[in-house]
Amino acid sequence: MPETENAAATAAAEEENNTALFGKYEVGRLLGCGAFAKVYHARNTETGQSVAVKVISKKKLNSSGLASNVKREISIMSRLHHPNIVKLHEVLATKTKIYFILEFAKGGELFARIAKSRFSEDLARRYFQQLISAVGYCHARGVFHRDLKPENLLLDEQGNLKVSDFGLSAVKDQIGVDGLLHTLCGTPAYVAPEILAKKGYDGAKVDVWSCGIILFVLVAGYLPFNDPNLMVMYKKIYKGEFRCPRWFSMELRRILTRLLDTNPDTRITVDEIMKDTWFKKGYKEVKFGDLGLEWKSEGEGVKDLNAFDIISFSTGLNLSGLFDSSCGVEEGERFLLRESPEKVVEMLVAAAEKEGVVVRMRKECGVELEGCGGNFAALVEVYRLPGELVVVEVRRRDGDGGVFRDVWRNKLRPCLCAASSSTTSDRDGTTLAQPVAGDS
Ligand code: ADE
Repeated sequence: MPETENAAATAAAEEENNTALFGKYEVGRLLGCGAFAKVYHARNTETGQSVAVKVISKKKLNSSGLASNVKREISIMSRLHHPNIVKLHEVLATKTKIYFILEFAKGGELFARIAKSRFSEDLARRYFQQLISAVGYCHARGVFHRDLKPENLLLDEQGNLKVSDFGLSAVKDQIGVDGLLHTLCGTPAYVAPEILAKKGYDGAKVDVWSCGIILFVLVAGYLPFNDPNLMVMYKKIYKGEFRCPRWFSMELRRILTRLLDTNPDTRITVDEIMKDTWFKKGYKEVKFGDLGLEWKSEGEGVKDLNAFDIISFSTGLNLSGLFDSSCGVEEGERFLLRESPEKVVEMLVAAAEKEGVVVRMRKECGVELEGCGGNFAALVEVYRLPGELVVVEVRRRDGDGGVFRDVWRNKLRPCLCAASSSTTSDRDGTTLAQPVAGDS
């Protein structure tokens, strides 16, 4: 690894005065670099699992006005569970940086492979099927990628496609009164004509257009609409003029004509693609567990949150400063557990009883703890997240700081973390049973 990359990796790892990032991830080589983010390979020191760590500088982010995009990216990614979508394991943060701990796609960028040589129609179809499966899954949940291109398509060890980078993706709540999206984004060569026309556009339709461009590139080895002059390229896109090379089959030409239809109203939809004869050849519909997307609240006194809300709580995306003195809270912490809120409260009550701490249940998602002759007083709140996750927020109410640290950190918290990790860590391989933020 070049010196500068090494230095950057070490700096990221040592920000917390640790050799490993948050004492958990050994950061290695640089995988990729963007305007706001760098992606490194890392190894989970507890499990040995490879991960990709996307490091985002808060300073750059705040000055760019794109902070809300990151919040959205976290919110979206934490809700998506599909075999062809890069999984978000956890989000960590320090005062200056946000770290996305992502599934590591060992095969790297699909783009790098096309750069070497174009694919056979059969191999291209396999990738296209996986792409459409992932895109259809997202669309059904109101999530549109809007920046689909080979650089955002990675491969895992088995050569399966993984869609990454939802930084620019849009959710339904961004849709205007006309039901269309209005933000100009995307990469010129993959951008649909209706985006160039600066009219409102339908996120699902533009993703289908980009999938058409990707399919063409996979089999041809070059772009369908291209010109060194950007305006000339745009004109070609507007007109939808492209020519298929001679090695394209008739069925492939037919579906490409439907995908690259300049009229979004008549362009093929994901449902129609799935019925197409060229597409269907050898297609195996993926079966996967949908981990609690349309998540319903059970039980009284538990608040629903998503990762977006966790980040929103903290000023300037600073998760580590959650309990600054301006809130009048002297001490506390917030962390994630992979557990049901009911179970967390149950474990807390059992641990408190063991320590002779009195528990008072609060109506609003909380538990008051009091003990040690009034020297220990804390409020614990539990928020429910999608995917059987909870945020536990603990604050010292009163009493003595030293006693709080002793009782909470040494006696009560270990019971929660130990029980939660052991019962949940092997469910889907995620490692969220660790504090994600706090002042401890
Ligand atoms: N480059 C960017 N993101 C990546 C990931 N999740 N795995 C491998 N390489 C990447």
